[in-house]
Amino acid sequence: MTVSAGTSVSALFAGRHVSPTERAEIQSTRPRTVVPVTVNADIHAGANTWHALPAAQQPEWPDSEALRDVIAELASYPPLVFAGECDQLRSRLGAVARGEAFLLQGGDCAEAFDGVGADQIRNKLKTLLQMGAVLTYAASVPVVKVGRIAGQYSKPRSKPTETRDGVTLPVYRGDSVNGFEFTPESRTPDPERLKRMYHASASTLNLVRAFTTGGYADLRQVHAWNQDFVKSSPSGQRYEALAREIDNALSFMAACGIDPAEFRTVEFFSSHEALLLDYETALTRTDSRTGRLYDVSGHMVWIGERTRQLDGAHIEFASKISNPLGVKLGPGTTPAEALTYIERLDPDREPGRLTFIVRMGADKVRDKLPELVEKVSATGAQVAWICDPMHGNTFEAASGHKTRRFDDVLDEVKGFFEVHHGLGTHPGGIHVELTGDDVTECVGGGDEIFVDDLHQRYETACDPRLNRSQSLDLAFLVAEMYRGQ
Ligand code: PEP
Ligand code: CO
Repeated sequence: MTVSAGTSVSALFAGRHVSPTERAEIQSTRPRTVVPVTVNADIHAGANTWHALPAAQQPEWPDSEALRDVIAELASYPPLVFAGECDQLRSRLGAVARGEAFLLQGGDCAEAFDGVGADQIRNKLKTLLQMGAVLTYAASVPVVKVGRIAGQYSKPRSKPTETRDGVTLPVYRGDSVNGFEFTPESRTPDPERLKRMYHASASTLNLVRAFTTGGYADLRQVHAWNQDFVKSSPSGQRYEALAREIDNALSFMAACGIDPAEFRTVEFFSSHEALLLDYETALTRTDSRTGRLYDVSGHMVWIGERTRQLDGAHIEFASKISNPLGVKLGPGTTPAEALTYIERLDPDREPGRLTFIVRMGADKVRDKLPELVEKVSATGAQVAWICDPMHGNTFEAASGHKTRRFDDVLDEVKGFFEVHHGLGTHPGGIHVELTGDDVTECVGGGDEIFVDDLHQRYETACDPRLNRSQSLDLAFLVAEMYRGQ
């Protein structure tokens, strides 16, 4: 792991448990050498101002020539998304920033190459569509739907190595870098994986586009999304009742001669953390319409809690691309930092350009968030405020599983709403880690999962995700909070 010299250890680990040994280990390794970001000079010569800056969390690729070849190849591949689509999302997020819409952003913590099967993608999409239907109908607000999908293959890690039974190997950094299996071969970073990330993203996006525009996401399918689920879970049954109401409303409108095209397709956007700057740079292209740079690996990209150093390469990279941007803000974020992100990333003060994804932890959000929101609002900047109730609420169960309590997740969202309510600002949305599969990774929820159940279907390659039932529970509860504001 490389960290910029200016980053404090507490900022790097804000919101998650760090043992004294781990903290000492990280402290003793700072500052480390900085891995330069490879230039992709052919595409936009001279524009890669982020190249020279320290880039945290970049893998130590063993063969720099092999990396260069891969990057050159990636730079020749077609874009995964169009600049115009990114503009459209920016405009939708503008509505979120103005208080006219709600953002639902969700998906895996880490996508995996063996998770690009049709069933898994459909289940994730189905869960997001169901949550979107609940929020739109029960909270009566337009919902902007963004997946953590088709590019979320790279993970920042708190330690560069992992030790098991006395053997120390490089930590797993996501399928884009190395393998999960604990062997030297698998854990060695392999740049060929960057190409697999591109292809996995492309096939995922292709299927998502087919699902969302090819009839599957037609609002008249609200029941069909729930069919496999309705009998088995309380949240499925609650959803079924809501779907019946939506059906009635649709029938009423059809009888009145209203059948808008908006009901037949769904606008759905992709997003991921812009972590591996070699990959993101290779996918950064000049828009032929405007001459501006866009990272065409996804519609929206965000900068994570561990790579948001103001003097680092990630923020510089983000400042140069025109995509809608997210920045994760942990409990260590100062108001001055938040204001500087606005200066750097949203100098034109364009609503929709910048989304602050707040991940404070349920026990801190009520203390830490008000000052940030107040100071930002005082500048007149219209950023979108989104709550990530996952990353500040992770703990290790006695069984060794990394988990989260559904009640903590819910409590952080509640705190987030309370703060905005108190200040008269808009709680703009939620950012959650979820899967459409019936996993047992987070405890609690209406169809309760207990600590002793965690081993049953614990499948995540990184952080614990809400399963489908917990995700729907959350959507219903958030809709109530939104309505009750
Ligand atoms: C993540 O979103 O998976 C993540 C690592 O979040 P954060 O940067 O907020 O810790
Ligand atoms: Co995560």
